[in-house]
Amino acid sequence: MINAKHIDYRILSHPEIGRIEIFPDANAAAERTAEKIIDIVSNNSRAAISFATGNTMIPVYKATTRKAGTEQIDFSDIQAFHLDEYFPCNPNEPYSFVQFLRRLVFDPLNIHERFEINGLADNPEKEAERYENLLQQRKIALAILGIGPNGHIGFNESGTPFNSRTHYAALSVETVKRDRDRGQDSPDHAITQGIYDILAAERIVLTAYGEEKGKYLKEALYGEISSNCPASALRKAGSKVTVIIDENAASRLQ
Ligand code: GLP
Repeated sequence: MINAKHIDYRILSHPEIGRIEIFPDANAAAERTAEKIIDIVSNNSRAAISFATGNTMIPVYKATTRKAGTEQIDFSDIQAFHLDEYFPCNPNEPYSFVQFLRRLVFDPLNIHERFEINGLADNPEKEAERYENLLQQRKIALAILGIGPNGHIGFNESGTPFNSRTHYAALSVETVKRDRDRGQDSPDHAITQGIYDILAAERIVLTAYGEEKGKYLKEALYGEISSNCPASALRKAGSKVTVIIDENAASRLQ
């Protein structure tokens, strides 16, 4: 067991990516992911960071804001990017990722430079192009990721080419079902950073908890590297990728 600032975890090495860190429970994994975010900002107060959304990220961002307070880390000058957003989507909708990040990250951390995807743009393809241009002007220091049905990352669904840039995407049947099962009346399209954009980040941290996510990860980390499983692209990004999971997710990797 290794002790990362008082959190015990074990490491599973992987032939292609940096490493897999396994924590006893979701909270401990979330704390560790928060540490990774804090470390980046402590070293560079102007760092560009790309933030994912989703249930997985709620404890991560709560831990980040708490640690930023106790460790007095100033986030106000970072450059904050979105990974994805439903389309069309008004930020007032409860499922809006823009609303999620404002509420859990951008407002509490008083971040000024927020590069938001406009879910109300007239033309989603043009909006994707605008966002891609913003990304191209910066080096993303850290991309935070979760994982979804069929191993999707962002809203890059199965079949998305690994060289994809920010684009307007149709959601898969499985993703739409997941949203409906969660009681969410969200659109079946989105704007998402592409796989190329994600892999271009200097560091990538993917966080997941629970057995279902473990199943997606097994396919991503040990199955074929193929656009059928978008997260398998991370194996092309090598040592800059860290996967942070709980024991429940780890139990499905074997
Ligand atoms: C969503 C988002 C992803 C997110 C994933 C996991 O569809 N597009 O960026 O990582 O699904 O979400 P959750 O943590 O809620 O399961």
